[in-house]
Amino acid sequence: MQIRAFEIKDEDGVDALLKAAFPGPEEARLVIALRAADADTLELVADDHGRIVGTVMFSPVTTRVEDGDDLFGVGLGPVAVMPEHQSRGIGTALIEAGIDYLATLGVPWCVLLGDPDYYQRFDFKPAASWNWSWAGDPDGACAPAFQVRPLITGSAPSGKVATVHYHPAFLGV
Ligand SMILES: CC(C)(COP(=O)(O)OP(=O)(O)OC[C@H]1O[C@@H](n2cnc3c(N)ncnc32)[C@H](O)[C@@H]1OP(=O)(O)O)[C@@H](O)C(=O)NCCC(=O)NCCS
Repeated sequence: MQIRAFEIKDEDGVDALLKAAFPGPEEARLVIALRAADADTLELVADDHGRIVGTVMFSPVTTRVEDGDDLFGVGLGPVAVMPEHQSRGIGTALIEAGIDYLATLGVPWCVLLGDPDYYQRFDFKPAASWNWSWAGDPDGACAPAFQVRPLITGSAPSGKVATVHYHPAFLGV
């Protein structure tokens, strides 16, 4: 099994995987929309002898700080592993490979929406601890699932209140 960058020939494999791992087609549509919008900052696949068994996407995210500054980072997701290949470390390998690579590029931080029980192993913390909230969650109902981690030393912001915006491609799916 190899973790490698997505190639065009993987389109059908990733699509099938996302439809198998998630209950609906939204995540598969989202990945197609992100690629079409050139918002696929980093897309990795787990390739098991030519079969795509895992995938992770990172896309650009803008954080609007209350005093008017914009900060730029990435959002993780979707991430998925073929049901019959889950709990073998493939999700961990994809996420860690992506985070390590983005850190070498100097990307300062990564946000995500997901189960804290899974993502705390990668040192993600509630974004609320940075005073950040997700623009798509004005009443804060998803706050525990909205998480962040710095990718490079010193990239944690000042603690000013800020709102995080995913790429507009997320709104169309
Ligand atoms: C979440 C997912 C990508 C993890 O991939 P994976 O290859 O199975 O994960 P790993 O093998 O690296 O890690 C497995 C561990 O994660 C745990 N885990 C998986 N999903 C979890 C969740 N939602 N909440 C808490 N723990 C979870 C497993 O119980 C296992 O725990 P263990 O290490 O104590 O045995 C995969 O389960 C998946 O595709 N799920 C369906 C799609 C999905 O929900 N994607 C994430 C959306 S936020």
